[in-house]
Amino acid sequence: MALPYLNLREMEEAAAAVLSPAALAYYVGGANDEVTVRANRDGYAALKLRPRMLVDVSQVDVSTTVLGMPLAFPVGIAPCALHGLAHPDAEVATARAAAGLGSVMTLSTLSHRSLEDVALAAPGQWWFQLYVYRDREVSRALIQRATAAGARALVLTVDAPQLGRREAIIRTPVHVEPGTVLPNVGPRRPGSEHLDDLSYFNSLLDPGLSWADLAWLRAQTDLPIVLKGLLTAEDADLAVQHGCHVWVSNHGGRQLDTAVTALDALPEIVTAVAGRAEIYLDGGVMRGTDVLKAVALGASAVFVARPALYGLALAGEAGVRHMLELLRDELRLAVALCGKARIGDLGPDLIFRG
Ligand code: LAC
Repeated sequence: MALPYLNLREMEEAAAAVLSPAALAYYVGGANDEVTVRANRDGYAALKLRPRMLVDVSQVDVSTTVLGMPLAFPVGIAPCALHGLAHPDAEVATARAAAGLGSVMTLSTLSHRSLEDVALAAPGQWWFQLYVYRDREVSRALIQRATAAGARALVLTVDAPQLGRREAIIRTPVHVEPGTVLPNVGPRRPGSEHLDDLSYFNSLLDPGLSWADLAWLRAQTDLPIVLKGLLTAEDADLAVQHGCHVWVSNHGGRQLDTAVTALDALPEIVTAVAGRAEIYLDGGVMRGTDVLKAVALGASAVFVARPALYGLALAGEAGVRHMLELLRDELRLAVALCGKARIGDLGPDLIFRG
């Protein structure tokens, strides 16, 4: 059955009506005044395109490659926690939808389903997001499991030494059902079989993590390492010096409110990286033209998180698939209307500088 939603905004509105108040607060909540949440989206609308005319666009190919993996279009699923608040099939449904369309899902550490279940649902077509815990042995075991299960990359979140202050979540806290085991989270509260609130998760994270720890991480795995949450040329350069790829992100506006948007940070990061590593981006992507703009400015691929959760809430795997198909088809049309036929043809000349 075809889903009736014509765009991601319609999916967001419909999902808000079916999610529980706590799940909705958790998914959409941003830090403090949510200035960055709004800026993430508004930034795309403010950027104008310079389309070229009279180019043969009878064949448009939006396929690309990231870390040597073919992608049917340059959009993946960003790590986001607790898909089980949206649908019982949780991360398995999201992973299956992404892999089925030739996209890639990044599985959050904070997931309802185990990384092994996701590996079975999307063989060779998933990345694993990692938080480094105070207890390095727990992190080491997770990295080993992800590597053994066939993750194609490790995505280390570097912008969350502590979780940001999301007031919507404080007001309507999310409680994981008693007895629920979050299989990638690691140590549980002593005497408890479940992770009952985010403050406990927060307490597991290591706020002492620094650049010096990347050598430890590198020694644990041969997988490509992507640092997610970089927003400056300085840190992007350090990431490359440490042998890592760069994921430009402000964590969906959930960490430091009024932080620069990924789209605004992208040009200085592209200059600093100078082709030495791949660059990805997330935050505020809702349209094919948003994807096109990020790729034109130098991102190899763009990732979406909240829209996947909306799709999941509305129709499980089919909802996530619908969301990705909308973005893919909008992108293909936008590329053609820009007078381009391939992803490799997109460049900064497409962006109007005023
Ligand atoms: C969040 C953390 C868990 O944004 O990544 O909620």
